[in-house]
Amino acid sequence: MLIQPKIRGFICTTAHPEGCAAHVQQQIDFVKSQPPLPYPPKNVLVIGASTGYGLASRIVPAFGGGARTIGVFFEKPGVDKKSGSAGWYNSVAFEAAAAREGLYARSFNGDAFSTGMKESVIEAIAQDLGTVDLVIYSLASPRRTDPTDGQTYNSCLKPIGASYTQKTLNTDKAEVYPITIEPASEEDIHHTVKVMGGEDWELWMDALAAAGVLAPGARTIAYSYIGPELTFPIYTNGTIGRAKEHLEQSAARLNERFGSGTALVSVNKALVTQASSAIPVVPLYISLLYKEMKRQGLHEGCIEQIQRLFATQLATGNAPQLDAKGRVRIDDWEMRPEIQAAVEKAWNQVTTENLRQISDFDGYQSEFLKLFGFGLTGVDYDAETDPVRACSAGA
Ligand code: NAI
Repeated sequence: MLIQPKIRGFICTTAHPEGCAAHVQQQIDFVKSQPPLPYPPKNVLVIGASTGYGLASRIVPAFGGGARTIGVFFEKPGVDKKSGSAGWYNSVAFEAAAAREGLYARSFNGDAFSTGMKESVIEAIAQDLGTVDLVIYSLASPRRTDPTDGQTYNSCLKPIGASYTQKTLNTDKAEVYPITIEPASEEDIHHTVKVMGGEDWELWMDALAAAGVLAPGARTIAYSYIGPELTFPIYTNGTIGRAKEHLEQSAARLNERFGSGTALVSVNKALVTQASSAIPVVPLYISLLYKEMKRQGLHEGCIEQIQRLFATQLATGNAPQLDAKGRVRIDDWEMRPEIQAAVEKAWNQVTTENLRQISDFDGYQSEFLKLFGFGLTGVDYDAETDPVRACSAGA
């Protein structure tokens, strides 16, 4: 079948197998162009491994350090005449590339929040690897069913305490307009913390430890975001920010249980991913940020961010450098005062009319399409392609 982009609001409901493979290959090529990691982890479990930061976190240790990886994700395989999701094709491509280099890679498709998934993954680690020495927790999900009470919680992106009015961007129509978001209820906050906080991260680590599949000195890392003051009401001080606070508290609890330095939170840069495109206001900020960071030669995508995270913090043989709150800051370039000052100035000026001059909206759109395997050079989008592709997680 022919597969073309079908965009509905901030998601694309189709994905291109060869395009996703080309996107994964670009990331692998980047990692291989960098010096090998000095002290790479040997066996890595990545939870949320199929797209965005999690996929990059699987590629970097594998292709920069020869690590054996197990990836967990929730994706849709393609079926006859219907395309699968991008994360499915990314994982198919990752496994094929790993196999070409003789690298162990095994994937699990299903609900990472469930007890069953934890048991299956633990069994695979015990059988195939013995132990893991690094666990990356990179889930972004709109909902979670808590295995202890069976209740399903839905996360939301809302301010807390007061409504928030700010410019936002309709990425489909290239329109800048004001949006007002009403404040969250206590229930909204509780639900968002249940989904995007650290509870499930702790459950994973407890289960891995109880099963004896954590190597001595094993570490774990989860990702957070802070960003500029203009997005504080919707991010850092909003429902998602509360969840990230909980994530940091989980890291502290994990360090108490498993020893100081076991659990880390890395604050990463704002980037176009399936998760971030759903947040109001943020895509406009990202478009302005990309413009300025590209202008200053400081732009990074997921793969460059995670490469830098491993090369300078996780795989150096030394303890990572932490901020006053104990976090790794790989958002340091985004948060440079000169970058933030330029973005703030542009923020005050940006309108629908000058969007393409003032911001890197074209870059945003092409990155967005690339997430789904569209717009990659060397891929023939007019050629028939088979949506059914197999990896170790199924077909
Ligand atoms: P993403 O949407 O690209 O990836 C989410 C991953 O989670 C995918 O692999 C997906 O299959 C998996 N997933 C979702 N629900 C699942 C479930 N129930 N079971 C198994 N797998 C499931 O997201 P992105 O942006 O890479 O986010 C990852 C983490 O990075 C999040 O914690 C996010 O807050 C954080 N982060 C993202 C930033 C950004 O700008 N995109 C900036 C800083 C941090």
